[in-house]
Amino acid sequence: MIKNYKNKIFCGDTLTILKSLPDEIVDLGVTSPPYNKGEDKKGWLVKNVKYKGASDKLPENLYQKNQVAVLNEIFRITKSGGSFFYNHKIRWERGILLHPMDWLRKTKWVIRQEIIWDRMIAANIRGWRFWQVEERIYWLYKPKDNHYIGKELKPRHALLTSIWRFPPERENPHPAPFPLALPIRCIFSVMDEEKGKLIIDPYCGSGTTLVAAKILGHNFIGIDISKEYVKFSEKRLRNYKIEEKYANEEIAKHIVIKTFKERKEKGEFTGKYGSQNNKKVEQHSVFKLFE
Ligand SMILES: C[S@@+](CC[C@H](N)C(=O)[O-])C[C@H]1O[C@@H](n2cnc3c(N)ncnc32)[C@H](O)[C@@H]1O
Repeated sequence: MIKNYKNKIFCGDTLTILKSLPDEIVDLGVTSPPYNKGEDKKGWLVKNVKYKGASDKLPENLYQKNQVAVLNEIFRITKSGGSFFYNHKIRWERGILLHPMDWLRKTKWVIRQEIIWDRMIAANIRGWRFWQVEERIYWLYKPKDNHYIGKELKPRHALLTSIWRFPPERENPHPAPFPLALPIRCIFSVMDEEKGKLIIDPYCGSGTTLVAAKILGHNFIGIDISKEYVKFSEKRLRNYKIEEKYANEEIAKHIVIKTFKERKEKGEFTGKYGSQNNKKVEQHSVFKLFE
């Protein structure tokens, strides 16, 4: 069993390393696993997203089995009441749609929410379908005392919607990084001002989640199979201060003018259809409340 895991990046296979970590140590995780794109297929994504040190081509049934095993190991090492944010996308294999829900429902996690990540740009622009500009982020939850719902988000986070709109990262040399705003939003929304928690990214790539954790005052565990990406992440973490301004841009979006309680007390819009108060506000603009 690995005892010294805090603020470490492990180089190796995710499932193997997860198996050697103790139970219930992690508070929250964020990841984007390899998507099993299949490297003999055509398309921009297949040509341009190639990882150093790992192939991304498994028979789909083995890939999904592996993801279920990885997610169940993450469940084991996560504390009850903890969350995991899993970024994936809808894919097609010979015309058959493959949906992340196909394997997420086979894991031990409670699926708390499906978030649409609007990347505003398509990876594959052939005309077989409408351009796919979105990916998905699944908020997974480990129940505490048989309680499946979990704590409420603070209003300043809950007022953000379930469609997250940020473009993909372009400056990063890794072939498939997510933007820093993504893990910042996941971690900050759940942890709010809490500090010193343990955040994991089991496919950490260029270390984006780890940098987000550090900026927000948390500890981290990273895993990646590529030595090159691990080295890159370590360097990025040493220079994390440079990225604080991008994190602050995301944090600035978590605002609330008036909480639900304050609006209710003042007889203002609370989102209840048909109420007199709502009609009054609708004449002005409901959206002003969220500006
Ligand atoms: C989509 S990328 C993650 C990118 C990351 N979110 C970032 O912002 O840089 C997936 C990562 O999984 C790694 N990987 C692929 N197979 C792996 C395995 N079996 N064990 C550990 N890491 C693996 C790849 O090297 C790649 O860096």
